[in-house]
Amino acid sequence: MRLFVTGGAGFIGSNFIRHILSLGRNYQVVNFDKLTYAGNLMNLASVAKQSTYSFVRGDICNHSVVAAAMNGCGAVVNFAAESHVDRSLLQPISPVQTNVLGTAVLLEVARSLGVSRFVQISSDEVYGDISPPAQALESSLLAPSSPYSASKAAADLLVLSYVRSYGLPALITRSSNNYGPLQFPEKFLPIVILNALDNCAIPLYGDGKQQRDWLHVEDHCAAIVAVLERGRVGQIYNIGTGETLQNLRLAQRVLEILQKPQSLISHVKDRPGHDRRYALACSMIQDELGWNPRIPLDQGLRETIAWYQTNASWIASVRSKEYLAYYKENYEARGLARASE
Ligand code: NAD
Ligand code: TYD
Repeated sequence: MRLFVTGGAGFIGSNFIRHILSLGRNYQVVNFDKLTYAGNLMNLASVAKQSTYSFVRGDICNHSVVAAAMNGCGAVVNFAAESHVDRSLLQPISPVQTNVLGTAVLLEVARSLGVSRFVQISSDEVYGDISPPAQALESSLLAPSSPYSASKAAADLLVLSYVRSYGLPALITRSSNNYGPLQFPEKFLPIVILNALDNCAIPLYGDGKQQRDWLHVEDHCAAIVAVLERGRVGQIYNIGTGETLQNLRLAQRVLEILQKPQSLISHVKDRPGHDRRYALACSMIQDELGWNPRIPLDQGLRETIAWYQTNASWIASVRSKEYLAYYKENYEARGLARASE
């Protein structure tokens, strides 16, 4: 099966491509990626020369380029997105362009080519804040808080409209916060790890008591394969561990593992509209597809920290001028005393 993977040069997409190719099944992966600041072909160095892998540089918003590249593919997995909440607050049009218009283009091309499977990679953020002790079900109301999460919710609705109106065999996954190797250091955990390693202040938004469900990217990839191969058309699948942790506690644990002082934690100005808690009920994917997370958080954290400690050339490759400018803009505005370079 020829599989059209968008955003495959990013964090989850590149882990997914390496994961699915390692299964030794009959997949030919076409990685379609614009290579924005978040896309990095170094992430795919280990598979780049395999005959089962090819790369096309392109924008999912460009209909003719997408149509040419998707031609001959039997299934689509759409990871491509502007994926960061803080950037979406600084530049709110950008996620609408990529996440909404781009998904519309992909759906339209997939419909015209008659693909047999379309998996939309969405997020638990579409549900917005979930007050304890509740957990969001796949049927819960969409209540996104940021331009990023609103654009993901809009894309989900488009996907569902294609299932209903055109019979497109599409499915949606909504996962919790991912962590693991190759995550771009605009997201919380790599910032905590890299700043701790550099003995720089760790920016914690507000009181740090916001809760997230941390899912190892390998567990997420296994779940996506299960949905791709065995999921029910038209179904939404929540994917998470079912456990939540405060940001403060996560930062403290990284510092404990690295034996660094807790005084590195610096409370900074909060994110506007910051969701206090995400929590997912995941019995749908567990009961229907037999998926369960396998990697305990503490083990995953230790392995992820070790990965960042031993991949200096990757870290250098992502610390571009654009990245440093973004970092300065985001954290100076929050009053971070000492920024990491
Ligand atoms: P990422 O930012 O690391 O990677 C995004 C990739 O998409 C990059 O390779 C980028 O070059 C590419 N891209 C961006 N715009 C494009 C366009 N117009 N055309 C083609 N390619 C484009 O993101 P990620 O963290 O790997 O997230 C992947 C997907 O998973 C996203 O859809 C995101 O919403 C979703 N998701 C992420 C998380 C998380 O914790 N990171 C959690 C739940 C869901
Ligand atoms: P992030 O990794 O951006 O993911 P999301 O916003 O999609 O959950 O942030 C995870 C949590 O960490 C979120 O509650 C915001 C918080 N956070 C900080 O406290 N400091 C930071 O520097 C960043 C980037 C995030």
